[in-house]
Amino acid sequence: MKQENKSVHGVWGSRWVFILAATGSAVGLGNIWRFPYITGENGGGAFVLLYLLCIAVVGIPIMAAEVMLGRKGGLSPINTMRKLAGESKVTQRWAGIGHMGVLSAFLILSFYSVVASWALYYAWEAVAGGFQGITAAQSGARFDALLADPWLMMGCHTLFMVLTMVVVGRGVKGGLEKAVEILMPLLFVLLLVLVGYAATTPGFKEGLLFLFEPDFSKLNGKVVITAVGQAFFTLSLGMGAIMAYGAYMPREAAGKKGGKPKPVSIMSTVIIIALLDTLVALGSGVAMFPLIFSNDLQVGQGPGMMFVTLPLAFGQMPGGMLFGSLFFILVVSAAWSSSISLGEPVVAWLVERGLSRGLAATVVGLGAWVLGIGSVLSFNLWQDNTFLAGTFFDNMEFLSTTVMLPLGGLLIAIFAGWVMKETHARKELGIKNFKLYLVWRALVRIFSPAAVVALFVYSIWSAVAPADEAAPVKEPEPVAPAASEAPGVAAGAEIPAPVAEPADDAEDGEVPSAPLEPAQ
Ligand code: TRP
Repeated sequence: MKQENKSVHGVWGSRWVFILAATGSAVGLGNIWRFPYITGENGGGAFVLLYLLCIAVVGIPIMAAEVMLGRKGGLSPINTMRKLAGESKVTQRWAGIGHMGVLSAFLILSFYSVVASWALYYAWEAVAGGFQGITAAQSGARFDALLADPWLMMGCHTLFMVLTMVVVGRGVKGGLEKAVEILMPLLFVLLLVLVGYAATTPGFKEGLLFLFEPDFSKLNGKVVITAVGQAFFTLSLGMGAIMAYGAYMPREAAGKKGGKPKPVSIMSTVIIIALLDTLVALGSGVAMFPLIFSNDLQVGQGPGMMFVTLPLAFGQMPGGMLFGSLFFILVVSAAWSSSISLGEPVVAWLVERGLSRGLAATVVGLGAWVLGIGSVLSFNLWQDNTFLAGTFFDNMEFLSTTVMLPLGGLLIAIFAGWVMKETHARKELGIKNFKLYLVWRALVRIFSPAAVVALFVYSIWSAVAPADEAAPVKEPEPVAPAASEAPGVAAGAEIPAPVAEPADDAEDGEVPSAPLEPAQ
């Protein structure tokens, strides 16, 4: 393997560019689409608290480990792991982290593109003024109409995949940082506008209580494991995306305004990224839940949540057409910069094997596109074909996010904490404060792996535990949003608990998901 210090794929211009790129990877549908909907499905406050905890004690240390491994290796995740395993004189099997990452990347990319393509379609709808004066029932019906149209979804899915692969094919360092530098702050501003609007709605307080008042009776195995999976998903951890980006991170760089090159600290960089990411997720939740309660929608309506609730806000607020168009365009951009980071590790690896970048991106894009067809059909033609976690889409999401990412993260933590030479890790990480370094080390060696294992075990145990323990785990959940069919169902319930109302869901004729591990 090549031993040069600089990655063959080039390096980021500065620490600032790395922050932008990694934030671009982290902030995406995971924050705006996934966080609110799974918070709704998992009962609110207690889930949110657990998720925040997972970010702090599992996510941040493992992210630092991923960046550290990436920068030390300087190659695609598979070859980085190979190289580092060689340096540490352990079996090359550790490259398996990279191989599993490639597989996760395909699975995630395939359904990610489908959801991003909904946002793409909604951007178009918003520009065309489609949300003006919309009611909750109409908003639900509009989303259902999109889901019922496989050809329309295929078209948007294709467009989004092409967009992604064009950037990956040209090398991610080109225009990405410029785009992220402008689009991310704008996304923040628009989220604030949405939060401001939510604050004027009657359901504001109820929405905040749902999000931030933990009700620990809602905790069960599924809630726990979903929170861990979400922490990994939202920070782009566990499959090598951050490792690949870390490989392009310089060891020394001038500040944003130039000046003398200084060592680039991994830890502070990672903390900034995690904070920004968490802010966007919480902001999305605060923007959406009040609308749910104000419009008598269901909290556990599933993946359609942002697409049913946000048009209501844009339809009613002053300037809604402008804000709505901008917002959905920004969501597409955020999803775009994330999906690019999903494609990059695989493409970088193929490039190291001698393919041209363009060809590699085409191969990866085509593969994920084909797999994505299964997700497109999960919402219409294959709606009733459920197995294990639910539809094809549910299984892709569950397997990749909730199983493979935490598993990948676990192995990364073990490698960084136990296998790699301590002096190498310490030097690469470059934490000046020794106490802080010890905290990191204790977290990746003991705490993060133990937490992931314990949470896995707990959730498997509660999935197979006797009925009274596991009751909420076994309940079917709506796979597609039920809001349009039953906009008033949750009305009046103090705080409607999605996991506790199987009857409603079943009546709606929704596809009940399989018993063991429910749909995400
Ligand atoms: N973190 C992104 C989001 O929240 C999704 C994502 C991009 C991702 N790259 C990843 C998830 C790598 C897991 C692994 O939308």
